[in-house]
Amino acid sequence: MNKPGDDLVKLAVFASGNGSNLRKILESQSAKSSYKVALVLSNKRDSGAILYAHELGIPTLFVNNETLNAELELVQALEDHQIDIIILAGFMKLIPKFLIDRFKNRILNIHPSLLPKYGGKGMYGHFVHESVKLNNESKSGMTIHIVDEIYDQGRIIFQVSCRINPTMSSEEIGAKVLQLEHCFYPRVINGFAKTIAQKNIDI
Ligand code: GRF
Repeated sequence: MNKPGDDLVKLAVFASGNGSNLRKILESQSAKSSYKVALVLSNKRDSGAILYAHELGIPTLFVNNETLNAELELVQALEDHQIDIIILAGFMKLIPKFLIDRFKNRILNIHPSLLPKYGGKGMYGHFVHESVKLNNESKSGMTIHIVDEIYDQGRIIFQVSCRINPTMSSEEIGAKVLQLEHCFYPRVINGFAKTIAQKNIDI
């Protein structure tokens, strides 16, 4: 007999930092959701993401450079948790090619700018918002995209912008963008999971 939740699309959330997006994804998880966070993976043992997962009793996996790239073991761990989709939420390591191949079109990333602007290597966190400010942009925003082998260049599935102005500090810009992330990432993930569940695709 199937256990409750067996039909839900299982997510592994990869996060290195505060984990505020992970929190929102978990807070939005309800009886009506199409997804369930089944595993939290991090390269930082004391990241906010790992600590929050521990609080909720969600399985976690710590990886270092070596174990992130150990194909057999990592794939086995994801299979053990029946992972269907990988969600990157502030994960600061390069995703190995074997994962991109195995989870083709099933890895999502969120980026705090209106890609293709302010994307690519070195463009993360405060660097993004500082560059946006330096260029006197009138708007910023966030982008959710499929992950492929090139940094921040996979197919965009959702983008939303917000107005900013020259009086705002880069921190204020970042905070405004983060609000958009919190509002939309869980919804986009839910829609994405629903599509995958409806198509009933096996990996
Ligand atoms: C977010 O700004 C996200 O766009 C970027 O990393 C940050 C993660 O923040 N990829 P948090 O750890 O979820 O608070």
